Amino acid sequence: MEKIRVERPQPMKSEWAVVRGSAIHGRGMFAVKEIPRGTRVIEYVGERISKAEGWRRETLRQRRAKSGGDGGIFIFELNQKTDLDGGVSWNTARFINHSCRPNCESRIVRGRVWIVALRKILPGEELSYDYCYDYEHHHEHPCRCAAPDCVGFIVKSSQRWRVRRALGAKVRS
Ligand SMILES: C[S@@+](CC[C@H](N)C(=O)[O-])C[C@H]1O[C@@H](n2cnc3c(N)ncnc32)[C@H](O)[C@@H]1O
Ligand SMILES: [Zn+2]
Repeated sequence: MEKIRVERPQPMKSEWAVVRGSAIHGRGMFAVKEIPRGTRVIEYVGERISKAEGWRRETLRQRRAKSGGDGGIFIFELNQKTDLDGGVSWNTARFINHSCRPNCESRIVRGRVWIVALRKILPGEELSYDYCYDYEHHHEHPCRCAAPDCVGFIVKSSQRWRVRRALGAKVRS
């Protein structure tokens, strides 16, 4: 039988950063030179899918994570109709870890997702952005970013007060 070859795009490269082992988790992306504030460091690429499909994939991955498997969440909301699934081999930006004090952020510019430097980043620094996870499932996502104000869980900055409040209540009881 004739084998069908599926062509996969080449992994995205960045002139600013490379992938290597991270103290936070697995692999991460690290600056290879000074990155000025505002630089688009790398594009977060992936498959454009409908909201319904995005929801289906995210639920599946969360279930896999709960049962101890690889359950990384890679879905970005592009707009009310479309999601971007970055869980593809050519999306090098999928290696960027979360930090409670990130040096990058994700920005959607005309339907494309860019990882943009929030400040000057020095050579060797690990890139990070806020994954913006909801408080709801915070126990499933412990954070090891080691920022001085890390709340211990990957939760969007606007909801971290809820983690602090819950931890405070535990300490008091
Ligand atoms: C998109 S991947 C990031 C790349 C990952 N380090 C790797 O090697 O595949 C997301 C996963 O990395 C881990 N991760 C990212 N940031 C983290 C952090 N601050 N603390 C702990 N784990 C983190 C979590 O397991 C998360 O589900
Ligand atoms: Zn943290």
